[in-house]
Amino acid sequence: MISRRLEGWIGERYDIEGLRRILRAKYVPSHRFEASYFTGGLTLFLLVIQFLTGMGLALYYIPHSEYAHKSIVDIMTKLNMGWFFRSLHHWGAQLTIASLFIHFFANLLLKAYRKPRELLWVTGFIMIAVLVFFGLSGYFLIWDQRAFTAVRVATGGAGSLPLIGGPIKIFLRGGIDVTQETLTRFYAFHVSVLPMISLIIIGLHVLLVQVHGMSVPISQKDREGRPQPFFPNVFYKDLIVWLLGIGVLVTLAVIFPAAIGMKADPMAPAPENIKPEWYFLFLFQTLKLFPGRISVFNGETIAITVISLAVLFVFLVPFLDKRSSAGKPSPVFTYIAVSYLVYFVAMTVIGFLD
Ligand code: HEM
Repeated sequence: MISRRLEGWIGERYDIEGLRRILRAKYVPSHRFEASYFTGGLTLFLLVIQFLTGMGLALYYIPHSEYAHKSIVDIMTKLNMGWFFRSLHHWGAQLTIASLFIHFFANLLLKAYRKPRELLWVTGFIMIAVLVFFGLSGYFLIWDQRAFTAVRVATGGAGSLPLIGGPIKIFLRGGIDVTQETLTRFYAFHVSVLPMISLIIIGLHVLLVQVHGMSVPISQKDREGRPQPFFPNVFYKDLIVWLLGIGVLVTLAVIFPAAIGMKADPMAPAPENIKPEWYFLFLFQTLKLFPGRISVFNGETIAITVISLAVLFVFLVPFLDKRSSAGKPSPVFTYIAVSYLVYFVAMTVIGFLD
């Protein structure tokens, strides 16, 4: 009854029928690899959970090097269900980034980037940088020894980039070393700059999905089944995937509550066997492959340059893979996509076991 009256109230003022027509007109292709269509929606759903749990934590967190660590301990020990909300945010970050990588590799392997979806790819790619930086800046906020060392290493690594590395390092740290200035900056990035960029870029990304509709992989062009209506068929499937996602998230948060180490002491030596978060492991392992010096060059600078070029290549893939854009199979780019995936998984696993 109330919903009818509300619908009537809105209907008198806005064109609901128009919205209904748009929803009814949205169809999704049906083929062997259609599961890839749920990966973007899952990433979006998990990101919304991150925003909600993050807003809760921001009510109690204190972005000051003296009190940051204690405020997290207080959230976990003194606040009703505080440990649970912190764990949701901690595990939510891991799952969002895992879902993002699955979405990225699915689109790379299925060549969903090909003409006319180049800008979809570009906006998505920007989101990888944004989410990884979300992860790094959030990790630092707990101000324990591991987080402190990780940020010192990561910002130091960025400093190894030729020419632009030095200024980037100083910009990120807010000075020469990791200090309170870095905490102030990372807090600002984490709760203000990055959420704002995300809203704009994801808004554009999702708008472009509506403009282009979903792509059909070249290999499935002749095997496509009947397209499915998005509403309600595909939307219900999306809901099931989201329910599974939240189930996994809550289970992880309850069984493995987020931990915290000792408060950071900037003078203390780096903890032994320190490892970055799992999504940095492939970079960490790659750095280890390079010797300290290669001829007259610094090994780390060469490694960071090689990694940057590999990232640039995959960023430009929609513009390089001309055969796919012309609707023809392009096995070379399939091999390249598979090599990137195998390298990423292998290096992550090796880094984990190392
Ligand atoms: C927070 C990050 C992201 C969110 C929330 C997001 C969200 C979405 C959503 C909801 C869709 C439509 C459903 C689907 O195909 O799964 C989509 C499609 C797409 N996304 Fe993303 N995405 C993100 C990151 C990325 C990244 C990193 C890339 C690749 C660099 C990417 C490339 C694409 C492409 C090419 C499509 C079109 C797929 C097709 O037409 O078959 N996205 N995204």
